[in-house]
Amino acid sequence: MTQKTILRALAGETLPTPPIWMMRQAGRYLPEYRATRAQAGDFLSLCYNPELAAEVTLQPIRRYGFDAAILFADILLLPQALGADLWFVTGEGPRLSTVTTGAELAALKPKEAIHDTLSPVYETVRILSRELPKETTLIGFAGAPWTVATYMIAGRGTPDQGPAHALKDSDRATFQGIIDLLTDATVDYLSAQIEAGAEVVKIFDSWAGSLQGADFHDFAVEPARKITAAIKERHPGIPVIAFPRGAGERYAGLHQAIGADCIALDDGVTADWAAANVQTGGCVQGNLKSSHMVTGGDDLVRETRRIVDALSKGPHIFNLGHGITPDADPENVQLMIDTVRAGG
Ligand code: CP3
Repeated sequence: MTQKTILRALAGETLPTPPIWMMRQAGRYLPEYRATRAQAGDFLSLCYNPELAAEVTLQPIRRYGFDAAILFADILLLPQALGADLWFVTGEGPRLSTVTTGAELAALKPKEAIHDTLSPVYETVRILSRELPKETTLIGFAGAPWTVATYMIAGRGTPDQGPAHALKDSDRATFQGIIDLLTDATVDYLSAQIEAGAEVVKIFDSWAGSLQGADFHDFAVEPARKITAAIKERHPGIPVIAFPRGAGERYAGLHQAIGADCIALDDGVTADWAAANVQTGGCVQGNLKSSHMVTGGDDLVRETRRIVDALSKGPHIFNLGHGITPDADPENVQLMIDTVRAGG
């Protein structure tokens, strides 16, 4: 029987105090992260440097004692491993060479080639599984096919995922081909992370909320279900967390529809609603608004307590509703943790 609190919550146990970690916990709000990133040179060099990527993964564990560490990498490393060019423009975000035609899809590498590029990521996982404290759970991750496809098709982040919707509606065969390639490659990528020591995997579908009607089922639920089923077949006992951000009322029933052990909630639903409609299906993760990490104070404490209390009757992992932002105050993170561990 495992003693790790995150694994216990994922197995369906209701704990007296919810375990806690934070999306983007290794990030620019921490001075020690900024120093290591400067040492690496740039963000992608940091992702592909196993020693330094492991170091930044460990920094928030040392500072705060979170119950989980998440591998430091990025969801866009997978399209890069499939042959897309990838670079980051400071202050703006990612840029990629685009894939919008059947010919460009065919020119990508086969999924078998991804490990040539991604092997340093697996080395980061191996270092972490040696160096993490024994009570800390190691989470691996990948982007969900739809979210990764939105960046591959547009060549950058977009406010409404317009270019991906346009391709989906105008050339379904090419769009479906991109989704299928990403689905298959993601299974192999997560599988390799598990073989290197990841104890849990999380699928980030940051843009699931913009899929409407049957598209939500076809391109958010279905790829996540296929990935989860394949992971569970290859690695029985490895829990899967799915994060279809922006799902709103469609969060209800997703444990069953995806087959995931845990559904991660953004801050678009209340914890009370989630307790009645989502936690009935299994463990939930979330969902404090990340802006509280900037503003702090009584509001932070009150909202943290409200979430802990609302979700206290079932399995719950405390987290933010989205990643912590660079302008957050590290002291507010400590206040959130102290509030959760004081029993909400
Ligand atoms: O949670 C973690 O700490 C693990 C590491 C992680 C990163 N990105 C590190 C990162 C994870 C899980 C991600 C996921 C990711 N990456 C998502 C899905 C989750 C989400 O936030 O919606 C997406 C859409 C990306 C793509 C991406 N990477 C964008 C759009 C950006 C630029 C925006 C920004 O915040 O700067 C990144 C860069 C990135 N990924 C940073 C970090 C720590 C900042 C890079 C830096 O140091 O400059």
